[in-house]
Amino acid sequence: MADESPADGPRGERSTVEPPKSFVDRANVTAASAAAFDDWPACWERAAAMVDWTEPYDAVFDGDRSGGRWFPGGRLNASANCVDTHLAERKTQAAIKWIGKRGERRTYTYLDLYHEVNEFAAGLRSLGIEEGDVVTLYMPSIPELPVAMLACARIGAPHNVVFAGFSAAALAERMERSESEYLVTCDGYYRRGNAIYQKNKADNARISVDHEVTDIVVERLDDESIKLGDATAYDDLLSDHRGEEVEPVSRRANDPLFLIYTSGTTGEPTEVRHTTGGYLAHAAWTSHAVLDLKPEDTYWCSADIGWITGHTYLVYGPLSLGTTTLLYEGAPDHPEKDRVWELIERNAVDVFYTAPTAIRAFMKWGTEHPDSHDLSSLRLLGSVGEPLNPSAWWWYHDHVGDRECPIVDTWWQTETGSILLSTLPGVDAMKPGSAGPALPGIDVTVVGPTGEPTGAAEGGRLTVETPWPGMPLDLDADAADDGWQYVTEDVARIDDDGYVTVLGRLDDTVTIAGHRLGTMELESAIAGVEGVAEAAIVDVRSGGPVDSVYAFVSTDERHEDEARLRRWIADRVESTIGEFAVPERVVFTPELPKTRSGKLLRRLLKDIANDGELGDTSALRNPEIVGEIESALSDRE
Ligand code: PRX
Repeated sequence: MADESPADGPRGERSTVEPPKSFVDRANVTAASAAAFDDWPACWERAAAMVDWTEPYDAVFDGDRSGGRWFPGGRLNASANCVDTHLAERKTQAAIKWIGKRGERRTYTYLDLYHEVNEFAAGLRSLGIEEGDVVTLYMPSIPELPVAMLACARIGAPHNVVFAGFSAAALAERMERSESEYLVTCDGYYRRGNAIYQKNKADNARISVDHEVTDIVVERLDDESIKLGDATAYDDLLSDHRGEEVEPVSRRANDPLFLIYTSGTTGEPTEVRHTTGGYLAHAAWTSHAVLDLKPEDTYWCSADIGWITGHTYLVYGPLSLGTTTLLYEGAPDHPEKDRVWELIERNAVDVFYTAPTAIRAFMKWGTEHPDSHDLSSLRLLGSVGEPLNPSAWWWYHDHVGDRECPIVDTWWQTETGSILLSTLPGVDAMKPGSAGPALPGIDVTVVGPTGEPTGAAEGGRLTVETPWPGMPLDLDADAADDGWQYVTEDVARIDDDGYVTVLGRLDDTVTIAGHRLGTMELESAIAGVEGVAEAAIVDVRSGGPVDSVYAFVSTDERHEDEARLRRWIADRVESTIGEFAVPERVVFTPELPKTRSGKLLRRLLKDIANDGELGDTSALRNPEIVGEIESALSDRE
């Protein structure tokens, strides 16, 4: 394909690309319908109308621009909205299409999903689980995970999904913090052909949790040597409750639907509790307006359900709209590097939503992979998780979308629950490199260090200025002089058209395997290894399907056996956080680069690790260390 720009203008950050007419003509949200969305908070009634309520709400929003609650008085059930609602019209349509690690395929129609969710909900009840009890779900991307989420939602038990790659210690910590007495897990799963024994991790977590834990185990490995002990087998629970139906519990709009832990600067997991009404309305509306999902679509969100993207845009959003959602358990490059394109072709995927790091890996693997498949079923492409740089944007546009698909670069966070910034694909022009404007009904600005407005074009901390329906129950927002502010940890610029370009995060967090982790979490795990004096973690763009991190480590005394220390560090990270977080490289250095006041200059390490230009090193107390680190890094392990 010629590397020519389309008629819209030169390729680069400032060019704009109009959505293709073929898309605009069929888009869920048009320029006319978007224009009617300017009266806050009444405009959000439109999102609420996408959800079935068992009791109507008294007001769209109880409060003012300085805070309050969404849809007070309203009652609903999220499971009924994702399943029961669709039985009348699309009972036999696929709700979930699952492709397992070993190529297994399983399809759940909406009717199948209805039965399994009901039977599992009845099973949960029979184990004593009541409304308000927190149920921890610790499973990879297998259909039993969304079934369990929806069964919990049905009986009003908030779920607490813990990413399957987390260690026993990380699971135990999340169960302790949430006071969760119930755990649904699996005996294990396969990774690149090898069995991973998930139940061992779950058992170790149970031992270190202070309270009693009742557990249910999905048998996935087909391995008779695995003993369930006092756990209940998932399949037995289903067959004990075969054919039972559970009336969905009518939940208040502001009852929690689920909790999820995320990372901040403190090194401790932070609990975020999402509501039932506002969250579901926001998830459904953005799935409709931004991802343009229609019931007849097959839609693929490549995120793991363990993170917020999987919750909102693999489960709740698409299922509340009656779409077919694809759940893929495997790796993007296994068995071959064309796996993703093969799956899109074979399943005639209409909308594909992935992360920039995956797109960059696809680029590196080569255009021959997408080019060798018929991707003409695709109508829209999405991206989330970090800035989508213009070259990756264009590659995605040309080689995956064949220049026919708009791209939505969606900005949001675990805390926001759903998308806040994005172009509307049938309305707005796209600007590669920029996420786009705030969605209708959302107000954002940028502020300086003390919360004062700055010139938008100069940039500052991205700040949301009015409450939004998907906001969590205990959002850390500030009352400002003239209203309310949720100040994010992102730095951004806003152009004259209101398009926001996100530049990166301010706090010390890194993204590994698509997940935000605090550098402190990793550094304190490594610093716990005997012989380690100090550790600094930086993320690197490895060019693989997930980004990873390097650890720069200084030792107590000259350590003879670096290989052993390396192994200990890997073991420690695996046991405290999870194998996915093990640094790709450990680089030993006599000292870490510090300022005169003793502050670690992480930015410098990041530049070195990413082969970047080194910025100003004059602030360093120990500038000589830079050369040593560079040479340590160039010694291949
Ligand atoms: O820094 C922003 C980045 O991801 C952060 C949120 O991470 P997490 O809570 O793990 O949720 C990820 C999935 C929603 C944000 O603070 N981020 C997310 N989307 C974008 C982004 N940065 C730039 N552009 C985006 N589209």
